[in-house]
Amino acid sequence: MDMKMKGNITLGIIKPYAVEKGYCGPVLSRITEEGFRISAMKFIRLSKAQAAAFYAVHKDQPFFDPLVHVMNSGPSLILLLEKPDAVRSFRQLIGKTNPQEAAPGTLRRLYGESTVLNGFHGSDSDENALLESHFFFSLLERF
Ligand code: CMP
Repeated sequence: MDMKMKGNITLGIIKPYAVEKGYCGPVLSRITEEGFRISAMKFIRLSKAQAAAFYAVHKDQPFFDPLVHVMNSGPSLILLLEKPDAVRSFRQLIGKTNPQEAAPGTLRRLYGESTVLNGFHGSDSDENALLESHFFFSLLERF
């Protein structure tokens, strides 16, 4: 692959807070309206160990324990999304980490509650998109 080429996949998560609130339907509609193809999708309730492994890069942050707690609090909807320049495009759609700082119309601004309960995750690089896609989905689950 040309090193300058942007990848076309990203890993998105509708976190337990947003699933519990019933936001999956409108959010999936919005994601597809924005031109993403959903190439794999499943509900999973992460154990604390799985949530800690997924967010291992944040293990020394003060918000790590609350983050693991909320990710373990109920099912998340995990999405493998395809679109040109997917990582940047999806991060733009979800908006800044803190919903109050996220631009109007972004998913976190519309549906997020706080920085920990911000409703959505999106990979932050092409490299992490690949790692995260393999964390959640086997080849058999991708279409
Ligand atoms: P996410 O994109 O899933 O990646 C890491 C998560 O940690 C982030 O969304 C937030 O939910 C949470 N997070 C990041 N920074 C902070 C912070 N300063 N305070 C509380 N939670 C945070």
